Amino acid sequence: MINSVDYKKIVFFTGAGMSAESNVPTYRGKGGIWNKYNWEEFACQTAFDRDPEKVLKFHEIRRKAVLECKPHSGHFVISELGKKHPQVIVVTQNIDGMHQRAGSKNVIELHGSLWRLMCPKHGIVEDMGETYKNYKCEKCNTWLRPDIIWFGDMLNQDVIQQAIKAIGSCDIFISIGTSGVVYPAAGFPEIAKRAGAFCIEINPEPSAISHIYDQNIRECASAALNHIFKDISV
Ligand code: APR
Repeated sequence: MINSVDYKKIVFFTGAGMSAESNVPTYRGKGGIWNKYNWEEFACQTAFDRDPEKVLKFHEIRRKAVLECKPHSGHFVISELGKKHPQVIVVTQNIDGMHQRAGSKNVIELHGSLWRLMCPKHGIVEDMGETYKNYKCEKCNTWLRPDIIWFGDMLNQDVIQQAIKAIGSCDIFISIGTSGVVYPAAGFPEIAKRAGAFCIEINPEPSAISHIYDQNIRECASAALNHIFKDISV
């Protein structure tokens, strides 16, 4: 058990497994999105250039699925902890916005968001609906691209720097529900380790980077978080 008073600078590093108990499908493994859909058709710039409408419709299916889900108690443990300690930071690979829906404020979204679109000329458009309000920019009629890091995309350098700053100065780093195969995010636990943080992995299955952590908790996200932060009641 971790007494949340002892550790103030906590980074939660989350992947799709964090949302699995909310019923948002993971990417890999049983029921994984990339088992059902070919990412080359739906999640890369080439696919978008070839058929933007098809790609936008795929993301609408994902938005609808996520809107039918709710954050679980593990998300709330993290947000409650964030209320106690402003230095609790979530670095997430998830695009579903679940941490924010649970009330977390300090959330760094490494892979973008399902709830934003981008016009190359006019910038970000926030859009929270099940379907997109517009497929094209209202000002210039250009196709709007989901503000998501797809396969082959570079991560936003400012976002990476924010994440590295938080990870490099935390005293506890808790990774939850990531398979550890997609870089550069999969390199972040190593950064925490080298900076001297105590590193914990929460994942019912071993990941590709399990060996890096000081402790592996083979439990689901909600059970493990409620267990290790017993002093946080949600
Ligand atoms: N609690 C904790 N972990 C879980 C749970 C759970 N209830 N259920 C599943 N997991 C674990 C799985 O064992 C697996 O290791 O979550 C992990 C999910 O792995 P992926 O589906 O590969 O998700 P993630 O690591 O977030 O993927 C990284 O890949 O496709 C890209 O951009 C996409 O952000 C995504 C990135």
